[in-house]
Parts: sequence; C-alpha cells; structure tokens
Amino acid sequence: MLFLPLVSLALLSLASAEPRISPLITHEKRSHIPAGWSHTHRHDPVAVLPLRIGLVQSNMDKLEKLLLDVSGPESANYGKHWSAGKVSQTFAPSRETVDTVRDWLTGSGIEASRVKLSGARTWIELNATVEEAERLLNTEYHVYSHTTGKEHVACDSYKLPEHVSKHVDFILPSIHFDAVIKRDNNSSGSGGTLSNIGQPGVGLKPKTTGTIGSIINELEACDQQITLICLRALYGIVYVPVATDRNSYGIVEYTPQAYLQTDLNMFFGNFSPNLVGKSPAMVSVDGGYAQTEYTGFGYNGESDLDLQYGMSLVDPLPVTLYQTGDMVEGASFNNFLDAIDGSYCTFEGGDDPYYDSTYPDPYGGGYEGPEDCGTAAPAHVISTSYGYNEAELSPAYAARQCAEYAKLGLMGTTVLYSSGDDGVAGNGNVCLDANGNEVYGGTRFNPTFPGVCPYVTSVGATQVNPGASVTEPESACMQVIYSGGGFSNYFALPSYQAAAVEHYLTAYPPAYSASQYNATGKARGFPDVAANGANYVVAVDGEFELVYGTSASSPVTGSILTLVNDARLAIGKSPIGFINPTIYSPAFAGAFHDITTGSNPGCGTNGFNATPGWDPVTGLGTPNFPQLLARWLALP
Ligand SMILES: *[C@@H]1O[C@H](CO)[C@@H](O)[C@H](O)[C@H]1NC(C)=O
Ligand SMILES: *[C@@H]1O[C@H](CO)[C@@H](O)[C@H](O)[C@H]1NC(C)=O
Ligand SMILES: *[C@@H]1O[C@H](CO)[C@@H](O)[C@H](O)[C@H]1NC(C)=O
Ligand SMILES: *[C@@H]1O[C@H](CO)[C@@H](O)[C@H](O)[C@H]1NC(C)=O
Repeated sequence: MLFLPLVSLALLSLASAEPRISPLITHEKRSHIPAGWSHTHRHDPVAVLPLRIGLVQSNMDKLEKLLLDVSGPESANYGKHWSAGKVSQTFAPSRETVDTVRDWLTGSGIEASRVKLSGARTWIELNATVEEAERLLNTEYHVYSHTTGKEHVACDSYKLPEHVSKHVDFILPSIHFDAVIKRDNNSSGSGGTLSNIGQPGVGLKPKTTGTIGSIINELEACDQQITLICLRALYGIVYVPVATDRNSYGIVEYTPQAYLQTDLNMFFGNFSPNLVGKSPAMVSVDGGYAQTEYTGFGYNGESDLDLQYGMSLVDPLPVTLYQTGDMVEGASFNNFLDAIDGSYCTFEGGDDPYYDSTYPDPYGGGYEGPEDCGTAAPAHVISTSYGYNEAELSPAYAARQCAEYAKLGLMGTTVLYSSGDDGVAGNGNVCLDANGNEVYGGTRFNPTFPGVCPYVTSVGATQVNPGASVTEPESACMQVIYSGGGFSNYFALPSYQAAAVEHYLTAYPPAYSASQYNATGKARGFPDVAANGANYVVAVDGEFELVYGTSASSPVTGSILTLVNDARLAIGKSPIGFINPTIYSPAFAGAFHDITTGSNPGCGTNGFNATPGWDPVTGLGTPNFPQLLARWLALP
C-alpha cells in the first residue's frame, strides 16, 4: 500500500528533474536591434505573452530527397506526385516531439490545463506571464519602440534544455521582429497592416513609362512594343490547349491590386478577340475581391498585365485568379498558402502575426469571416509577381515558407515567382550593410524572396535589344528595370543547381568580394529562368501603356509551362510539378535560349553578367517552347 505511491513519486521526481539535468543551450539569437527601433524598457513581469511553440516536423531532413524522388527526370518515381494527406502525414511532428515539449512545460510548473495543442498537433500554445516566459526560456523580455510609434516585445536570445531544443522550431514572441515595419512604412490608407504586399509602393510591382501614342503590333517592332505576336515568335509558342477539363493555371494577386474588366476587354478587343467579355475564374482568399474603389497604374497595372497576357496565352483554358486579402489588412504569401494547403495553417507554429494578416480582420470594416484554410485547390502552375527582400524576413520564417513550396512540389504544383526588378539590389533599390540590415547606401547585394527558396522557380527578365529583330538573341533587361538575381544569404545551394553554379563561378568569377555577396559557392543562386520583361503593351485604366518588369516574365513563363502540362495531361501523363531538377539536368541542355549579354546593376555596381550557361541574371535563359514540349513529352 505504501510502496506504490513511493514508486510513482520517485518516477515523478525523475521526470521533473529531467529538464534540470539537460543542459540549457541557446536556441535562437539575434546580433543587433533592427534599424529604426530603440529599447524602451524591460517588460512588465505580470504582463501576459501568448507563447507559441512551433514544433519540429518529422522527416524535414528528407524533404529535398523526397521532392527529387518525384521531380528528378531520372527517378523511377518521376511524376508520381503525392496527395495532400500523404504530405501532411509524412511531415507532422512525432508523438515524441509533442510529448517532450509538453512534459518540459508541465515539469517546469505550468499546469497541464494551460497548455494547448493545435488540432493538427503541430504547435503548442500557452498564455504565460512575462516572468514565467523569462524563466522557461532563460531570457529577458524588453519593449522596443519604432520611429513610427509602434511598440514590440522581444528578447535578444533564448535558451532551451538541449533535449527540448531539438524538438522546437521557433518560439514566438522572441527574437523575431525585424521585417514588419519596413513594409508598414508606406502603407498609407490601409489599416496599418504589416503584411499588405498588395499596397502600391510596397514590395515588387511593375513599372510603366506611361501611355503610348499608337500600338504597332508588328513583328518588326518587338524592340519597341511587346505584344502577343512578339512573345509567340520569341519563344515558339504555337499550341492550342486541348486538355482544358484537366488542366489549371493560377495567377495570384494581392488586394488592393485588382484587374478592371474594361481593361481586359480593351486588350482582348485588340489582341485576343475570343476573350472579349471573359473574366478569370476568381477564387477569393480571405475576403479578396477585384476592388474598383481605387484605380490607377499603382492599383491595376500588375493584375491587368498578368491577366491580359496569361489569359491570352493559354486560351481557351480559363485562368484561375487567386485574389488574396481584404481591403483593410491585405495579405501575405502565407495567407495564400494556408488557403491552398490546410495543413500549412497550423504548420510549425502557424502563421506569424507579425508578418501575416489575421482573419477575421481585427481592424474592423474588412473581411469578418474565418481565415481560409485548405479551402482552395492548388492549380498545376501558380505564378506570383510579388516579392519581399530576403533580409526583411527572419531565416526561420523564410525557411518555413520555403518548405511549404517543396510540399506543393511534392503534390505536383509548379510555383513561379518573379525575381525582382532592381538587379542585385532589393525591391526599392535598397541594399544591405555588413550585418545584413537593409540600409539606404548599403553596399551588400540584397536578394529577393521567395526566388531564393530552392523549391521555387524564379523568373528573371530579358529584352529585345533596341534596334534588334525578334529573331536575334535577347539580352538581360536593361531598360527601366534590371533583372533581380544573385545568391541567397539564407538558403544553401541545392544539388540540382550545383554544377550550374560551380560552372558560373569558375568560368566567369564575379569581380566582387565576400562582403558584397555570398561568395561561398555554397549558396542558392537565382533566377532559374527568364522571359521578356520590357515594353509590354498593357491596357490600364482605359489606355495602353508600356509596362516593364519580371512581373511580366513570370506569368508568360507560367503560360508556357501550362501549355506543356496540357500536352502531357492530354496523353494521360502527370503535370510537370517542381521543374528545377528537370530543367538543370543534361536531358534539358539547350532547351532554353541561353542569354549571354547584359547584366543586373545595383548597390553601386554593374551587378553580375549574363554569360554562356546559367547565370545569376537570366538563369538558364528564356523558354524554347517546341524544345521544352518535346523533352517533357519524352519523360514518363
Ligand atoms: C490566451 O488568452 C486569450 C485571450 O484571453 C485567449 O483567447 C486564448 O484562447 C488563450 N490561449 C490559451 C492557449 O489559453
Ligand atoms: C520610410 O522609408 C524612407 C525611405 O523610403 C525613409 O527615409 C523613412 O525614414 C522611412 N520612414 C519611417 C517612418 O520609417
Ligand atoms: C512613401 O510615401 C511618401 C509619401 O506618400 C513618398 O513621398 C515616398 O516616396 C514613399 N517612399 C517609398 C520608399 O515608397
Ligand atoms: C552563404 O550561404 C550559405 C549556405 O546557405 C550559408 O551557410 C552562409 O551563412 C551564407 N553566408 C553569408 C555571409 O550569408
């Protein structure tokens, strides 16, 4: 009778002693306070922090291998894409992970009833006082204020017991807060959201040189005006889709960016008569709709461009428009990813409210419904012409989102992002200082995210050279915009790209030092491919304008890949999915028009040079549709 309690007491004390015998190790650390912030005071010990503990997923170390297994052109499993259920099962945190973190909390004196596990078992949440959080994480919380008046709670570093650390991805709030205010800077007129990448002046957007006097629409004039006939001639696009019942092509837009039907009709009337009166098939994510309250190039340029060219090039396949975010808060890439993959909503700590919008919209007057979570189907090809600068995001946040792109690849979706329009500088022409902070006048190159993610296909920009014909080789785009490109400071060189990057760095060593770019030779290089990005004739607000940007290159490339999918689907093959391992493989040598002239200036330099073979300006080159079609049809 007495014996039993003694045993369980002994076990209990053993369990609770475990955290104390496991050494504390630093889990995350930040070296500096981001520019614009200053320390205000130590946080009030009785204030409550919503602690969110992101659990490490299973099998993440095998992610690249698993993705290559279905995407490598020589793999026996090429094209055998996974179901969403298999993806979520394979990567869900293990029971051991959940139990270890929970036991650590209860063993540290937190009542079990206060610890909540998310439905998908992917994160653990707890309301802790500052005092409790400081004790758990062996840290101090401080309040910082920004020049804009915003306040933020953060610590400089935190520690976890070694046996817990390996099961935790990251904890919020902690060291993370650097990115947000930069995008908030100019989001005038909105609810002061941090993540509203659709706002004019925020993130990557196309540029215009204004209204044009008259449309030329002749193959002889593709150096002055790009129209559909120029693109078809440049890339050999002769194909009419037949598998429209099985195929899909998605273009993502972030509210308040929106198309105007009158603009689509005006463009189609001139160039694609079949499409007059047609609209994209809109999928509203988190209250997104094609707003018409605000107009002008800053609101309509991106969507009008993407849809006029995307819809025309894949006609008669309807284009899916993922219109993302409401008018008040807008949205981030994670909000969109949540909508097309339910398992991502709660993946590794869930979205980060410092970066991502929360729904129902807490600001009022916006979208009051629940956040879209697994409510939209991913299209076979998804093109997005928006981007952040890598340095605006914490490495953990960027890595989490990047892994999601790999999962979309496992499921057979091709994900394209434009590579940026400021050459080796970041969006807004901002570069980095020696610590990796964004500063005006910085001299370190500033890569674009998500193009730096190795599981995304990044698309750079080219031009028909002034005075040149449409049959002559293009150059890297060097008018109005410069093709974004370079090497990541966060992401390692993926195996599929190793030979291409090594060839570039040894055959054409860049004349820059390690203080200007990640010269280790071990970093992910981007873009992967390119397409024309200069002088597009686009109908915007009732007038034709000339438009420039990788914003054009990405939907055009997406259209071409969608046509390849059509031909494969028509004969019962799978969609092409994650294309990078294929396009870098020897089997695809020569399937792109190699771009060997031009460069991508930025940060006070000439940038990198376009060279024979892959280069960090135009990637492997521009699509040669007949070649791509033949080679992809030859794959199983
Ligand atoms: C934390 O507190 C908030 C506000 O009271 C509540 O909505 C939330 O459910 C709590 N979370 C947990 C894990 O108890
Ligand atoms: C906003 O960004 C500009 C650079 O465009 C900078 O000069 C200015 O100080 C920033 N404003 C705030 C309030 O941070
Ligand atoms: C921010 O907005 C102000 C006022 O609208 C404008 O003058 C400034 O150029 C903008 N800065 C950036 C970086 O867009
Ligand atoms: C360069 O890239 C590698 C691989 O991702 C990374 O480990 C390293 O920290 C990067 N170096 C710098 C200076 O950013």
